[in-house]
Amino acid sequence: MTAPPGEHAWWDEGVLYQVYVRSFRDADADGVGDLDGVRERLDHLAWLGVDGIWLSPIHPSPNADWGYDVADYRDVTEGYGGLAAFDRLVADARSRGIRVILDLVPNHTSDRHPWFLDARTGRDAAHRDWYVWADPGPDGGPPNNWLSVFGGSAWEFDERSGQYYLHQFLRQQPDLNWWNDEVRDAFDAILRFWFERGAAGFRIDVAHAIIKDRELRDDPFLPVEDGKIPDPRAFAQEAEIYSHHRPEVHRVLRRWRSIADAYDPRRVLIGETWARDLPDLARYYGDGEGLNLAFNFAFATAPFDGEALTTVIGATERALGDEAWPLWTASNHDIGRLASRWAEGDDARIRCALFLLVLLRGTPVLYYGDEIGLCDVAVPPSQRLDPGTRQDGSGRDDGRTPMIWTSSRGHGFTADDVEPWLPFGSGHRAVDVQRDDPDSILSWCRAVIALRRSREELRRGGQSPLDAPPGVVAWRRDLGGGLRSIVAAANVAATEARVTLARGPVLLATDGVDTGARDEVVALPPWGCVAVELPADG
Ligand code: GLC
Repeated sequence: MTAPPGEHAWWDEGVLYQVYVRSFRDADADGVGDLDGVRERLDHLAWLGVDGIWLSPIHPSPNADWGYDVADYRDVTEGYGGLAAFDRLVADARSRGIRVILDLVPNHTSDRHPWFLDARTGRDAAHRDWYVWADPGPDGGPPNNWLSVFGGSAWEFDERSGQYYLHQFLRQQPDLNWWNDEVRDAFDAILRFWFERGAAGFRIDVAHAIIKDRELRDDPFLPVEDGKIPDPRAFAQEAEIYSHHRPEVHRVLRRWRSIADAYDPRRVLIGETWARDLPDLARYYGDGEGLNLAFNFAFATAPFDGEALTTVIGATERALGDEAWPLWTASNHDIGRLASRWAEGDDARIRCALFLLVLLRGTPVLYYGDEIGLCDVAVPPSQRLDPGTRQDGSGRDDGRTPMIWTSSRGHGFTADDVEPWLPFGSGHRAVDVQRDDPDSILSWCRAVIALRRSREELRRGGQSPLDAPPGVVAWRRDLGGGLRSIVAAANVAATEARVTLARGPVLLATDGVDTGARDEVVALPPWGCVAVELPADG
C-alpha cells in the first residue's frame, strides 16, 4: 500500500499529453505541423481533460534526428512559427488551464550548433572541452568500445585535431561534456530562459545518460563474436555501466530541481529514464530532490498481459514507495503507439489500456492519437525519414504519422491539397467522427479522464493491490483514514474472469460488465474494466 503524497502538484494530479509537433496540426499548410496548429487544437485538449502538454523539440535544428539535434536552445524554429508562436501558444493554453512543457536535450547538440562549430576548430578552442574528446586507442581506432544507439562505434574521428568525439546517437549529435562547469552554467541559463518565457517544465531527453565515466572505461560488453561490432540494442542495459547510468547524473538533476523549485509556481522536471531496473528508476526521484516524474519503461515495454502488468505495477509501487509519484505511458515517438503495440488495433484492448494508464496511482502521459486509438502506420522503407529503427526492425516514423482530425483528404491535419510530411495511412477513425459517438474510444478516454478529474481518490490517493485471478489487474485507491475509496479491475486477458469486489455503486465500466444489481462477484469479459465506489470503511 502506498499512502497519498503529502503535497500535490498539478502534474501529480493532472493528465499529460505528448504533442509531436510535426504531426499534430499544420496551420500554415506546408505539410508539417507547427505551434499555431497546436494552438488551434487546444480546445480539443481542454475538452479531453488534459492539464499539460509536452512538446517534442521546437528549436532550430538540421533535423538529422527530427529536432533532437538542437542548433539553438533559445529559439523556436521558423518552421514552427518562431518565438512569437510559442508565446501565443503559452498564452492561449494558459487561458484554458493547460501548461506547456518543453523537451530539453542536454546530452548532445547538433554538430551545427555554434558551440560545436567552435570546438571543432582545434584543441585550444574555447568550447573544445564542452564536448567529449579523446585520443585514438592504442590501435589508432576509437578510444573505447562504446556503441551508438543508432549503430556502430559511438566515436567519430576528427581529422583536423587527430582526436575522436563522442556521439551516443548520430555523428551529427556530438555529446556534451557534463563534467565541464561551463556546460552546466549554460544549461542553467537555458532552463531559466524558458521558465521565464512561460514554460511549465521540461521533459529531459536521455536523462539517464548525459554524464559519462570520466575515465571513459570500456563497457563490460558481452563477448563479441567474429569480431563484429555488436548491435547495441541487443545488450542488456546492465552492460552499459560506464557510458550510461552514471551515479554522477543525480547531482546535475538536483541542480536543475533547485532551479525549477525556485519559481512560483514550481516547474516540473520529467526524465526520459531508461533505467536498468525499478530501484534504479526510483533513484532518479532523488528523495524529493531529483526529477519530479520519471518515465517507467519497464511498464511501457511490458507485454499487455495481466500477470506481467500486475508484476511490474507492484514492483513500481514497491520501488517508488509513498513519496515518489509514478508516471504511466505506453506510447511515444520512439516506441510507437499503444493501439498497435499493446492492442493490435483492437478496441476492447485499447479501452483497457487507457483505463489502466489513467486510473493507476500516478500521472498518465498520453501520446497524441492515443485518445482515438490511432495505430502505427507501416511507413514503407522507401518513405522512411528517421534514422532510428526499433528492436523489431520497424521504423520510428510509423508512430509519428499525422493526427487524424477529420475524414477529409488532409484529415484536418493539413490542407486537402497538401502532402503531409509522413503518410496518413488508412483505416483510422477521425476525432470528429468519434466525438459524436458515445461508444467510441475517444468518448471512453474522455470518460476515464473525467472520472479521474472528478475524484480526489483517483487524482491523489494511495494505492494497494487487490487479490484477483491471473490476468486481472485489480487495485484500490483511497485517501486513507477509512474514507471512501475506489476499487478498479481490468481484465487484461482474452478470457472471461470473475473477480470479487466489494459492493458499491459502479462509476465506470466497459460494455458487457454487469453493472445492474450485482453481488460482490463481477464477471469481466475479455479486456473488460470496472471502477466501483466503496463507502467509507468499506
Ligand atoms: C531520445 C529521444 C529520441 C532521440 C534520442 C536522441 O531517446 O526520445 O527520439 O532520437 O533521444 O536525442
